[in-house]
Amino acid sequence: MSYGVKGRALRSAACAAILAAFGAPVLADEIFYVSGAVGKAVENFGALVKPWEEATGHKVTLVPMPASTSDQFGQYRLWLAAGATDIDLYQTDVIWAPQLANHFVDLTEAAKDLAPTHFPSIIESQTVDGKLVALPIFTDAPALYYRKDLLEKHGKSVPKTWAELTETAQAIQDAERAEGKADLWGFVWQGNAYEGLTCDALEWVKSFGGGQIVEPDGSISINNENAIKALETAKGWVGTISPDGVLAYQEEEARGLWQTGNAVFMRNWPYAYGLGNGDDSAVKGLFDVAPLPSGTDGGPSAATLGGWNVAVSKYSTHQEAAISLALYLAGPEAQKARALSESNLPTIVALYDDPDIAAQQPIIPRWKDVFLQAVPRPSAPTKGKYNEVSSKFWSAVHNTLSGSGSAAENLELLAVELEDIKGAGWQ
Ligand code: GLC
Repeated sequence: MSYGVKGRALRSAACAAILAAFGAPVLADEIFYVSGAVGKAVENFGALVKPWEEATGHKVTLVPMPASTSDQFGQYRLWLAAGATDIDLYQTDVIWAPQLANHFVDLTEAAKDLAPTHFPSIIESQTVDGKLVALPIFTDAPALYYRKDLLEKHGKSVPKTWAELTETAQAIQDAERAEGKADLWGFVWQGNAYEGLTCDALEWVKSFGGGQIVEPDGSISINNENAIKALETAKGWVGTISPDGVLAYQEEEARGLWQTGNAVFMRNWPYAYGLGNGDDSAVKGLFDVAPLPSGTDGGPSAATLGGWNVAVSKYSTHQEAAISLALYLAGPEAQKARALSESNLPTIVALYDDPDIAAQQPIIPRWKDVFLQAVPRPSAPTKGKYNEVSSKFWSAVHNTLSGSGSAAENLELLAVELEDIKGAGWQ
């Protein structure tokens, strides 16, 4: 990668306001932003950063990464450990802050006016030992996507429990297949062995009253009867209401099947809402979203808290421009653009009252309470060990789903492994 220092003229007088906020450089920088993406995020990135490029004269190049957050994390950790100067900004998952904090610039001072406009809990999730490690660009909490037309046709209501979902999915799948829809499946989700499975499985476990793997006080809680019940329930879906291939699905594979009209239900994040209503979607106008089902009648529904942020590398040689871009991407203009074009949930409080967002992406105001009550993965209590904890968890779950050991056996073993990782205490 090379850095061309280009003098770029300010292109538009309409950008004066941005200019006032972000400052005009004497020389333009070419900066590199690394990010994984789902949906159309890569395609839309150019339009998203254009106003900032026009105002500042800088140029941003997106370095696209694989969609899997686990794959991104592995690569970023290598680059950061090597002190790579090639990358100026990293788009970071909500769970990474404690593990990567040492490699990022403290944005507290730069964001002193912007940060108070965000939800305090989200700013808090990116604050490690008093240092603001990354600025939030969107938050995430999943939904149960369901086909309104199919539920109506078969006289079913939106399931409130996983048992109801199982029954409804099977009934509609059977009836539709009998009518010749051979490719229709009841329920698609993320069963691949990666961070996404940690999210899905945490939702099953939590909604059955089985805790949060590792509790906020650091205790390991995963080996319990309710967690076992939750995983056995999910195992029952594989090959019945979900294709065997679900064990290799990430977000995009689930959306692919759903968006061609071949699923009754899907578990996915809000980004799939706008895409599902796109002109090229077979389910445009035919679906709606609901909170994920509960494990027990009248029990809690659980949504895993997700979300993405932007961090400035300590090793960047263009820090001023990089910080300016981080502020822009976390600011109201870019967050609104992202909400409209990608149905991502903003982290700025006021955008939940924005009439354009409510009209174009109605899931957003509806999902405010869902993400505010979402369950965090145990990245805060397990500190630098979160990735190890999560990968042990998703492996135990994946083994269970694929029939390699029972849930009881796998969770018992997992608890031993986690105690081992914890050692004398999480650090
Ligand atoms: C979504 C979430 C992120 C999570 C990932 C798992 O991108 O925002 O937090 O880790 O899905 O696949």
